[in-house]
Amino acid sequence: MTAIGLQARAGATTGGYALSSEDLRRTAVATLVRNWRGRSTVPTPSLYPHQWSWDSAFNAVGWAHVSPRRAWTELSALLGAQWRDGRVPQIVFDPAVAEDAYFPGPWFWRPLPADGPPRGVVTSGLVQPPVHAGAALTVARRSPGPESAAALRRLYPRLVRWHDYLWSRRRAPEVGLVAIVHPWESGLDNSPTWDAPLRAVPARNVTEVAGHRRDLLHAGSAHRPTHDDYARYVLLVRDYRDGGYRDTHHSLRFYVVDPLMNAVLAWSERALAAIARIVGADPQPHLDRAREITQLMQEHLWSPAAGCFTAMDALTGAPIRTRTVGGLAPLLLPDLDAAIRETLVATLTGPAFGLGDGVRGVPSYDLTAPDLDRQRYWRGPTWASTNWLVWQGLQTAERHDLAGRLAADMVGLVAAAGLREYFDPITGAGLGGTDFTWTAAVLLDMLPPPSAATATNPIQIGP
Ligand code: SER
Repeated sequence: MTAIGLQARAGATTGGYALSSEDLRRTAVATLVRNWRGRSTVPTPSLYPHQWSWDSAFNAVGWAHVSPRRAWTELSALLGAQWRDGRVPQIVFDPAVAEDAYFPGPWFWRPLPADGPPRGVVTSGLVQPPVHAGAALTVARRSPGPESAAALRRLYPRLVRWHDYLWSRRRAPEVGLVAIVHPWESGLDNSPTWDAPLRAVPARNVTEVAGHRRDLLHAGSAHRPTHDDYARYVLLVRDYRDGGYRDTHHSLRFYVVDPLMNAVLAWSERALAAIARIVGADPQPHLDRAREITQLMQEHLWSPAAGCFTAMDALTGAPIRTRTVGGLAPLLLPDLDAAIRETLVATLTGPAFGLGDGVRGVPSYDLTAPDLDRQRYWRGPTWASTNWLVWQGLQTAERHDLAGRLAADMVGLVAAAGLREYFDPITGAGLGGTDFTWTAAVLLDMLPPPSAATATNPIQIGP
């Protein structure tokens, strides 16, 4: 194996690594194939043995390079579990997996309401960031043709209902933006952003909850959320479940407007507009909603002091001035005010995130914050999924130089540490789960396209 300079997508050189693009591509494909379960891909078999909502969207982008059919199957399986009220659930449980393989497992989410999932399907009642329409459009662009067009036609009405659920049922009244009712809905589960709102949530039955945890069997406790946080997560799920998963915010203890959720919704609305054009529907309502979200975010969530978008506790109206990767996600929005975009890029390349300055990828949390924890889940580590979103955003912002830098970082992280769940942003050490599907998927999308001369298809992928 020779050390070669990898040329990542979007124009960057990466310097030399001991693994070639083809080696990395082979490993990534093998991981996708190993984690495929017939209709979806588990994020990693030990820690997360079911289907996760936003994981599936990223996974589909990876599958687009290998087997577009599997990309569409994965998205269709997820949207097939859509609730009658339109929500797309955070987890779709695999009935073939043991009840106690994951906590909180299927039993914990029951009873599911009458307007819940289709009969016989068990899911969580929470949601995750709506990356699906954006991912669906990306899949179609990576693998254009009649199969993708047909899939978009099938999925479009479900994606519309999904966004309509968020827009009609989840908007915080005073702000008009979508609120999350649980930290797990943010995707950035234990981000320091939730520390202040979580103070209103008692950490009850900590020992009992700790005893149920399965994650610590598969990942180091210093890399995972604390027991106190888990106790709060469990209480919030219990409350929401016992309230019939109704979105009446007066009864909620956690209700937060978060920039990642809203930026991703606006990005996906724009994708829906493009999909609408392909399937012969009207793009205008999607463009209007995307524009409205961008404006509302600029009005309510922009923090000049932080240099990025920040969250807001929608129960108290208090801003939460933490700098996280989610606050950079509005780079995805082409109608962002130009001065705001420039400030976001300055924040991304400044000391808090250090892109291009020796930092590996985009850390999940501000490197200058006193409570930074470079190894603990979403309190510092670099993640592939959010790197991909920022990479997309940098291309929208026409900062191809930085997009190339980030793609090179991503490739370098995996070349050195493997397909890990997340990485220390300073040392590049691999953390959390191994053989991680979305890391493989995102890598496939960020690697340079295989050259005809070197491309080999190491694995024959069936339908
Ligand atoms: N990320 C959560 C977990 O750690 C669930 O979405 O299980």
